Amino acid sequence: MNPSAAIKRICRRPSSRVPDFSFEDMVEKAVDRSNLAEDAKLTLHNVSKVFSMDRGKIQALQAINLTIMKGEFACIVGPSGCGKTTLLNLIAELDKPDQGEILLNEEKPDASGHRLMIFQDAALFPWLNVLENVAFGLRMRGMSQQDRRMLAMEYLSLVKLERFAQCFVHELSGGMKQRVALARALVMSPDILLMDEPFGALDIQTRELLYQELQEIWQRTQTTILFITHNVEEAVYLGDRVIILSGHPGTVQKEHHVNSSRPRQKESPYFQEVCRQISLELLGMGGIQLQEAMI
Ligand SMILES: Nc1ncnc2c1ncn2[C@@H]1O[C@H](COP(=O)(O)OP(=O)(O)OP(=O)(O)O)[C@@H](O)[C@H]1O
Ligand SMILES: [Mg+2]
Repeated sequence: MNPSAAIKRICRRPSSRVPDFSFEDMVEKAVDRSNLAEDAKLTLHNVSKVFSMDRGKIQALQAINLTIMKGEFACIVGPSGCGKTTLLNLIAELDKPDQGEILLNEEKPDASGHRLMIFQDAALFPWLNVLENVAFGLRMRGMSQQDRRMLAMEYLSLVKLERFAQCFVHELSGGMKQRVALARALVMSPDILLMDEPFGALDIQTRELLYQELQEIWQRTQTTILFITHNVEEAVYLGDRVIILSGHPGTVQKEHHVNSSRPRQKESPYFQEVCRQISLELLGMGGIQLQEAMI
């Protein structure tokens, strides 16, 4: 099936989880929403994290205060070792903060866990084929085989991989693996999608393609996305907002709203200026040495 026809078909269905929505509408709403506190999807109050080791303690994060709005595409940048992955792990409930609280939909998280993480290496199951990988979480939820296959195929269509449903992970390129990881996360209808440098290992052409696809999927699914990257241009290209973390220990240093329509023009003076400002702020921080993070 023609992939764009497949996406349109999914979006036309009244019962579909992938709603129809114009790209322009989404951009406008994303920009408008950024100032509306009542639309908070994720809130962090004074979140701190210390790692204890034989050699001492590392204060990875200190007093993080952050609100991510419903439907927002927020990017986090910061020097290596400043605590970005630690922060995502806390939000995903893979670890616990030492202080502070993390609220999802303004409530303390429950055990059902509607936060889903996409890692840099996709982290697919090599013993399952593509379709089974995407359907895995639905199976854990107890959905029937027929329903989960149908839903998984819809999301494989969304990431343009329906023809690869029967392939195994080792038969896929890096970009295809990340698309499978995206379909596997989205099929669970997460409240928030957490992406830890998902495109870091990909070549520039594949990255550019996935930027377009990710924005299109974000627009259609209205998923809230928190995206971590080292790449300032990537953050400014994708994000409604770019949040800068500093190290020693990790804390929110500054944020920039990216007030330009999509698709963003990388050559535009505005785009270049936002990138320049963020790069200068990051350069001012330097790298994080392990000794400096120790307390
Ligand atoms: N499980 C752990 N045990 C001890 N220290 C840890 C652990 N995980 C992370 N750290 C320390 O916490 C700090 C933040 O690490 P983290 O991986 O969150 O950084 P990061 O910003 O994601 O870095 P990068 O950009 O290189 O991925 C580092 O000093 C790291 O050494
Ligand atoms: Mg990291």
